[in-house]
Amino acid sequence: MKYYCALALIFLVIGNSFCLEDDVPSLKEHFAKYFKIGTCVSGGEIVNGNAQHFINHHFNSITPENELKPDAILDQAASQQQGNNVNPIVKIGQQAYYILKFCSENGIPVRGHTLVWHSQTPDWLFREGFNNWGNYVSRDVMNIRLENFIKNTFATIKRDFPNLTLYAYDVCNEVFAGSGGGLRPKGESKWMDIYGDDTYIINAFKFARKYAPQGCKLYINDFNEYMPAKTQNILDEAVKLKNMGIIDGIGMQSHIGSDWPSVQDYQTALTRFIQTGLEVMVTELDMKATDLSLQANKYRDLFQVLVNNNARIPSVTFWGTTDERSWIKGGNPLLFSNYQPKEAYWKVMTVGTNNKEKNLK
Ligand code: G3I
Repeated sequence: MKYYCALALIFLVIGNSFCLEDDVPSLKEHFAKYFKIGTCVSGGEIVNGNAQHFINHHFNSITPENELKPDAILDQAASQQQGNNVNPIVKIGQQAYYILKFCSENGIPVRGHTLVWHSQTPDWLFREGFNNWGNYVSRDVMNIRLENFIKNTFATIKRDFPNLTLYAYDVCNEVFAGSGGGLRPKGESKWMDIYGDDTYIINAFKFARKYAPQGCKLYINDFNEYMPAKTQNILDEAVKLKNMGIIDGIGMQSHIGSDWPSVQDYQTALTRFIQTGLEVMVTELDMKATDLSLQANKYRDLFQVLVNNNARIPSVTFWGTTDERSWIKGGNPLLFSNYQPKEAYWKVMTVGTNNKEKNLK
C-alpha cells in the first residue's frame, strides 16, 4: 500500500511539473505587439520552480502582490532609532527579495505597488516618534516623512537590485471613496486625517517624480474605476496632476465580474481615461464567475477592447497567476486553474491576431 501511495505521489509530482507545458502558447508572446502581459505574485509563489517556469512562459511584467506595500517595507525599530522623527527607514523584506531577485535575474520589468495607501500602512508612520501611541504629527512633519519615505523606497530598491527595471509605480492607491463621492474622507485615511485635502497626493507625485528612476511611469491606481461617479473623481485629480507634469498614467484595477460591469461600460471609462492624454494600464484584472463560458466570452470581448486601444495601454496585468492563488477564494477569476488554461484563456487567445500593428509613436 505504502509502495502504491509513493508511486502515486511521484506521478503526481512529475505530472504537475510536465503540466506547466510549453506547448500552451505564451500570453506575452501572443500580445507582444500590443502590450505587456503581467501578473501579481507573492513571495510564497515565486520560490516554486514550476511557478517560475509558468510565469516566465506567460508574463513579461510582475507586480509584487503585498511585498512592496508600506507595511511590508517600513521598519519601525530602525525608524525609531535612526529616523529623527522625520525619516522612515525602508527595508526590502525576505518575500520581496525573492520576487525582485527573480525579476532581476530574468529581466522581467516590475510595476511597483504601492507608496501612498490608506490600507496596509502602519499607524506608527503617522505618529510622533514613530510610536504606536501618542499624538499624530503635523502636516509639515508628515510632508518631510512622505518625501523621505518615497526617496528611501526608490533608493533601497536601486541599492539592492541595481539591474532591476522598475517601469511603473502606483504612487497613490485607492485615494477615492469606494464608489464615487470624492476623496476618501477623514476617518478612513490617515493621510486625509493629517492633510485634510489632496495635498498629500500632489506631494507624493512631486516626490515620486523627483526620486523615481528614469523611465518609471507614475500612476494613480483605483478600483470601481468604471463606475461613472468614480471615473469622474479619478479624471479630475489625474488631469490636475497632469497639468502639473507629475503623473504619467491611470491604473484601472479592473476587479470585475462576469455579470457586471458590462464591457461597454468598462470601455466608456477606458475611453475617458485615454482622452486625458495619459497612459492607461490595466493593473489588477480578474473576473469573478460561476459560469465559465460566460466568463470566457466576456474576457474575449474585454481583450478586444484593450487591443483596439493598445496604443495608449502599455501593460495589462492579471491579479494572480491561477485561480487557486487568487485573493478571491472560490471565484474562478483568472485564465488558469491549477496552472492549466481555462476556456477563458483560449477565448482571449483568439483576440488580436488580425489587428493592426501597435502604433509605437
Ligand atoms: O502575511 C500574513 C500572515 O502572516 C498571516 O498569518 C495571515 C492570516 O490572515 O495573513 C497574512 O497576510 C495577508 C496578506 O494578504 C498576505 O497573504 C492578509 O491577511 C490579507 O489581508 C492580505 O490580502 C491582500 C489584500 O490586498 C490586502 O488589502 C491580498 O493578498 C492582495 O491580493 C490584495 O490586493 C489588493 C491590492 O493591493 C489593491 N487593490 C485591491 C487588491 C485586492 O484586494
